[in-house]
Amino acid sequence: MNGKNRTALIIGGCRGIGREITLRLARDGFDVVPTCRKRGEEAEKIAEEVRGMGRSCRILELDVRDREGARKALDAEFAETAPDAVVYNSGIAKDNLFAFMDGSQWDDVLETNLRGFYNTVQPLVFGMLARHGGRIVVITSASGQTGQAGQVNYSASKAGLIGAVKALAREVGRKGLLVNAVAPGVIETEMTKELPKDAVLPLIPLRRFGRPEEVAGVVSFLCGGDSGYVHGQVIAVNGGLVI
Ligand SMILES: NC(=O)c1ccc[n+]([C@@H]2O[C@H](COP(=O)([O-])OP(=O)(O)OC[C@H]3O[C@@H](n4cnc5c(N)ncnc54)[C@H](OP(=O)(O)O)[C@@H]3O)[C@@H](O)[C@H]2O)c1
Repeated sequence: MNGKNRTALIIGGCRGIGREITLRLARDGFDVVPTCRKRGEEAEKIAEEVRGMGRSCRILELDVRDREGARKALDAEFAETAPDAVVYNSGIAKDNLFAFMDGSQWDDVLETNLRGFYNTVQPLVFGMLARHGGRIVVITSASGQTGQAGQVNYSASKAGLIGAVKALAREVGRKGLLVNAVAPGVIETEMTKELPKDAVLPLIPLRRFGRPEEVAGVVSFLCGGDSGYVHGQVIAVNGGLVI
């Protein structure tokens, strides 16, 4: 897969890590379809940047929690041909100690991070299998690998995604559909802007937070021609937070 004249769908692809994934895959030569819940300035800006690279960019509005709406939007966009690469990046955190965690904190995180994966990726798999190939990359988290205090909900959702990736990889590998996960550590985005740097940095051997582009680079590898024998894996991008 060298990315030429191929299409990548980036679910949650208009801001944060997803934005950098969209731009990187466009730079790699993919026509891109990033999604967001509500098309705004960020989405327009990304579309303009991608077009400036000579690739096409169609923004899709969808909420991953809305099973019917998401399926309708995806069916309409990919009616003729399934995407070559799908990146599931959408995710939220609602942290609290488990003893104090209310039902909505649990449900909201599981609904977006895990149920959303089913709602948006499952409708595309049949079409991707029919094409005998493609890439699925799921953004999970170091919290899903090790568990994180204050994030029982988030850790459960991200560990669930790792299980889903491994099981799906076993189902679809023989059809040439490669499925992998990327597990970022602490990356500088909206999601982490409130984290107390002084407390967190000593836990990271590289002594800095990661940049969204550093996650996008690994996604680029997993969607590109050099990763043809990488399948069912969880690739960590964490500065040594988990070793
Ligand atoms: N930042 C980190 O340190 C870190 C570490 C490990 C893993 N991650 C994971 O990386 C991914 C991106 O995180 P980020 O740091 O870039 O966070 P972010 O800036 O807060 O972006 C969150 C993304 O999720 C999308 N999203 C949230 N709720 C959604 C919904 N109901 N339907 C559709 N899309 C929804 C947002 O889309 P809209 O544009 O529609 O809002 C946005 O694209 C997440 O899965 C996160 O768990 C992040």
